Amino acid sequence: MEKIKVSDFGITKEGSQIKKYTLTNKNGMKVEIINYGGIVISLTAPDRKGNFEDVVLGFINPEDYFNENSYFFGAIIGRFANRIAHGKFSLNGNIFNLNKNNGENHLHGGDNGFFTRIWKAEIIPNSQTLKLSYISKDGEEGYPGELATNVFYTLTDQNALKISYEATTDQPTVVNLTHHSYFNLSGDLSREITDHELQIDAEQFIPINKSSIPEDDFENVAETPFDFRNFKAIGKDIDTENEQLQRANGYDHCWVLNGNGMRSVASLYHPKTGRKLNVSTDQPGIQVYSGNFLDGKFETKTGGKNNQRTGVCLETQHFPDSPNRNSFPSVELKLGEKYSTTTVYQFSVE
Ligand code: BGC
Repeated sequence: MEKIKVSDFGITKEGSQIKKYTLTNKNGMKVEIINYGGIVISLTAPDRKGNFEDVVLGFINPEDYFNENSYFFGAIIGRFANRIAHGKFSLNGNIFNLNKNNGENHLHGGDNGFFTRIWKAEIIPNSQTLKLSYISKDGEEGYPGELATNVFYTLTDQNALKISYEATTDQPTVVNLTHHSYFNLSGDLSREITDHELQIDAEQFIPINKSSIPEDDFENVAETPFDFRNFKAIGKDIDTENEQLQRANGYDHCWVLNGNGMRSVASLYHPKTGRKLNVSTDQPGIQVYSGNFLDGKFETKTGGKNNQRTGVCLETQHFPDSPNRNSFPSVELKLGEKYSTTTVYQFSVE
């Protein structure tokens, strides 16, 4: 088995040397991960003809990950993925105020969320598993409790990237971790993903208000642009006149996944190249974000610009704003409990 390779990646403004870890499987698939934000900076997958190409958005210059990653490219998102309304929640009678980094709301763990942190990296011997660890201090970004987090990235010989997350706390807190790669299976990272076909195993999605916070009731996907129960091109209904789409500038919603336990929940397919990505998870929801706020400010790794809709995020998670919603599954992590969740991104061709 090939060893995981380590090399220097770049130096942060504060002078920390960031390393890059290259995972390779027996088919030649490669995943590059840095210990800054646990960011997947590249991932190659074969097309129908066996050509490996990079299928995740990212920067060309290392410094941009350290200073400019407002897109959350490829990162581990925590302590709480997605939005918490008014940056505020209460737990066991105590009120906690979080960093408001998205208008009046808190998004993806705050300005200095897990995506900006330096993780301790450990290569699991004789494997293609990289273990990343980070201890989030009590009070960090406003959250209670010191949270010890481990994330395991494994590249399998079946062309899957498996991500397992674990966390423990020394005080009751809330946790919701996810992964924020923008996928583009076309091989050209400056092309719109509107021609990718998406399937989501969900009968309902969570409508949002004008600041992207969940409305009170789930909505059935049937007869709406949010119906992806069968494969449908992302671009097919994205521009239809629909208040939900207009509020988010496209898809940026959480679907309420069918079933529970580890199961296949969504697939993304690019007809031209034959690349297919299947997502399995044990989580109740998936946020599908169609790259609505990508703004063409950066050149992509394959040339051209990172314009709107050049990547799609498939973020497995608990529902947005769960800490403020009694009717949503609980996101509380109690003292003595272990948070543990797994998501698998399985690549294939068809
Ligand atoms: C969120 C978007 C946000 C984006 C930032 C996504 O996960 O759902 O609303 O704008 O991250 O890149």
